[in-house]
This record gives sequence, structure tokens and C-alpha cells, in this order.
Amino acid sequence: MAPFRLHVFVCNQQKPDGVPCCAARGSAPVLEALRREVGAQGLEDQVLVTECGSMGLCEHGPNLVVYPEGTWYSGVSPADVPEIVRSHFEEGRPVARLVRSDEAGLRAEIAANRERMIAARRAREAAGVLPDDLNDRIRGFQESRAILTALELDLFTAVAEGATAAEVAAKLGAAPRSTEMLLNALASLRLLVKREGVFHNSPAAARYFAAGSRDNARPALLHTAHLWQRWSTLTDCVRAGSAVAREEPSARSEDWTEAFIAAMHRNASERAPLVARAVGAENAGRMLDVGGGSGAYSIAFARTYPALRADILDLAGVAPIARRHIREAGLEDRVTVRIGDLRSDQLGEGYHLVFLSAICHMLSPAGNLDLFLRCHQALAPGGRIVVQDFILEADKTAPRFAALFALNMLVGTHGGSSYSEPEYAGWLSEAGFQDVRHARLPGITGLMLGSRP
Ligand SMILES: C[S@@+](CC[C@H](N)C(=O)[O-])C[C@H]1O[C@@H](n2cnc3c(N)ncnc32)[C@H](O)[C@@H]1O
Ligand code: FES
Repeated sequence: MAPFRLHVFVCNQQKPDGVPCCAARGSAPVLEALRREVGAQGLEDQVLVTECGSMGLCEHGPNLVVYPEGTWYSGVSPADVPEIVRSHFEEGRPVARLVRSDEAGLRAEIAANRERMIAARRAREAAGVLPDDLNDRIRGFQESRAILTALELDLFTAVAEGATAAEVAAKLGAAPRSTEMLLNALASLRLLVKREGVFHNSPAAARYFAAGSRDNARPALLHTAHLWQRWSTLTDCVRAGSAVAREEPSARSEDWTEAFIAAMHRNASERAPLVARAVGAENAGRMLDVGGGSGAYSIAFARTYPALRADILDLAGVAPIARRHIREAGLEDRVTVRIGDLRSDQLGEGYHLVFLSAICHMLSPAGNLDLFLRCHQALAPGGRIVVQDFILEADKTAPRFAALFALNMLVGTHGGSSYSEPEYAGWLSEAGFQDVRHARLPGITGLMLGSRP
């Protein structure tokens, strides 16, 4: 069986700095150009392009091999790609100047490369050197910090259509020497491109990090920059057992709140329609969205179920942001915002659905039980509670995102954590809910559901 006429493997192997490899020689743009050109020529159903690891010709990359005939290409650049696609893939004539036709030489080069690799691996093993992947994870903060600093400074907006280091430094009011160091580091990460001393945004940086772009994620990503400060206290938090930065959400600055809610909104807007459909609220007339944040979920529920009215309960600082989103969605007649404290207030009564999204991880176990008891009182008989959160497996070591998010709550709250399915089920049952179950959704969050008898 051959679902594709040709299968192209492009080596995109990354090796440690200074070791020759296809990634360092520009395989990613070749891969991108190949996928684009195959698509542009309408060949997706005939030519499968996949990336692969080292093929043993590391000093002559980027390398690719075309099967079933086994044609090996070396030193391919993005500029060669249209010719390869047209001449080889369409017309059956491989591009001779790039093809490795000396089979004996090819075998010898691959064998020599393999021997070098094995010798290097043995030497590292004998010396007890930390494996590269482990080392990369440990030093990962350097790349993260460089990008977050660039976002904090709004550097990608300053780079705009292209700027020298001195021009960027002047726009940012920063020192030229250090600005140039940061710009060079970002270019090494391929978020910027440096040509003759002028820096330009990469397509991804222009799209996601620069002001004026429709998909600018900077406001939301500033929340991650805020989290950085907290994570720096992790060691002290582990010693102390709880967050060491003492502040309540209501005491946070307006900037913090804007960035935090922007981050929530971005995640929620994409996910909310899926969650609204998964919950199913055809028969619900009134919904309470506890800690509803930007309003993204209430808006999605109201859009999905035209008979539904939703009340959002949130803090005074967040309410105007939610009202803004509701107004923009044209749903002021069916979605309202109430200012209150979910930790202590009575939540109302007669609701058919109480929804808690990304709330329970802020609270301690006792806080969640207390909240679930008040949700129970707020529901009409037969009404349902729906909790959306990062739900851990029973032994709490998976999923990885939820296990790491527990630390995010450790550094940011006094009692919060990620919780497991048995913990949620226990609190819901104790609060009087029945038919308690876990609904798994695609992605990093899941739902816990229960109903008031
Ligand atoms: C992680 S966000 C989740 C927002 C929204 N439910 C979502 O999933 O997108 C937590 C929300 O709870 C709100 N919140 C935190 N403490 C609160 C409190 N004591 N009373 C009311 N709302 C609170 C925050 O303002 C924020 O909007
Ligand atoms: S890294 Fe691509 S062939 Fe070795």
C-alpha cells in the first residue's frame, strides 16, 4: 500500500552549540519552504513531508532524502526548494547539483560520523557529563527570561519594521550596550533576524509580540512575566509550606489584574464554546459563573444556549473588564456581573447551573468544601455544579501540566494547589451532590460534575 507517491524526510536535528547539525545549518526554513511549496503546488496528497533526526551527513546539511527511490540531497537552501518540488516531485527529474550520487562516499561519510558519535558518547558517559537534554531543561530559564524581558520592555514593538540596537535602545530608554546584548540573544533564538546590523522581527514575533498585530499576545504574556517573580520564591515557599509573598488578589495593582484577566480571556475564548457544548445546558434558565473573570465562559454559554441568563460573580477590580467584554459581545441583556467574594458570600438561589472554572485551585481543601456547600444552596433542586480545572490523577504525578500547576499555586496562594479526581469527588459528595463524575476533555483541563438531588 502506498498512500503517498513520495515520502520526503528532512533532517531537523538540533545538536549542542558548536557541533555541526542540520538545524544549525538552517533546516527549519527548508522544512517550512518545502511544506509551503508542496501545498502551493497542490501535492499534499502525493508527497508526504516529515522531519527526522540525524542521517549522518551532519557537516553537509540541511539534508533530505526522498523515498521510495532513495534520493539523498545535501546542502539544500530554501531557495532550492521550488526547483526540487517542480523538477523532482512533479517532473521526476532530481536536481542533480544537490543530489549525493556517490553511494560509496555517502556510506563512508555516514559510517565515519557514526563512529565519531559513538566515541563522543562513550567519552561523555565515562566522564559522567550531564546529558544535554537534562542540562537544557535546567538552563531553560535563560531563554524564558530573555523573552519575558523583551516583552516587559515592549522590545518587539520598538524593533517595528527594522531598527539598529542604538535605535531600539533610544526608543526603550535603555542602555545601548545591554540592549544590543539582548537583541543578539533574541536573534540567536530566531525571534529576531539581524541583517547588516539592523534587527527585524521574525514572522512569529511580529504576529504575537508586536503592538498593532491582531494576534498580539503581549498583554496576556505579561501575566507570565508576573509569575516569574513568584516562581523565584519557590525554594522559600517549599521550606515554608505556602506562598511567601503576602498579598491578596484584591490588593494587586490594576496592571496585574489587566494582564491576568487578559491571559485568562485568551485561554477561555478558545476553550469556552467546547466546554459549553460538553456541559450541555439546554434546560438551564439561570447560570452562576463563580469567579467568571473576563466573562468569556458566560458569553459562550449565552451564545450556545439562547434561553440562558448568566450572572458572573467576581471582584470589584475585575467587574469592569467583564462588563466591557459583555458589551462587546452584545449580551448585556442576558449576562450580568455581580461584585462579591466567592470565599465567603452567600451565592444566591434558584440557579440551574453553577459553573466554577479555574477557581478551585486557588483554594485550600477546606475552602473548596465550604464553597461547594454554598454552591449547593445556590442551586435549585436538580440543578448541576460544573467544575473546570487541571485535574490530577489519583497519585498526583500526572498530567504533568497539573502537577507543575500545583507549584504555581504554591508560590501564588496560601492554600491553593492542583487537586485529584478523588479529592474533588469527596468534597462534592460531602457537600450533598450526587451523580458525581469526571468528564475528560481534550486539552489540559477536565470537568467534575454533580447534581443537587
Ligand atoms: C483563574 S481566574 C478564572 C477566570 C474564569 N473563571 C476563567 O476560567 O477564565 C480566577 C477568577 O477568580 C476571581 N477571584 C479570585 N478571588 C476571588 C474572590 N475572593 N471572590 C470573587 N472572585 C475572585 C479572579 O478575579 C478571577 O477572575
Ligand atoms: S544533523 Fe542532519 S544529518 Fe546529522
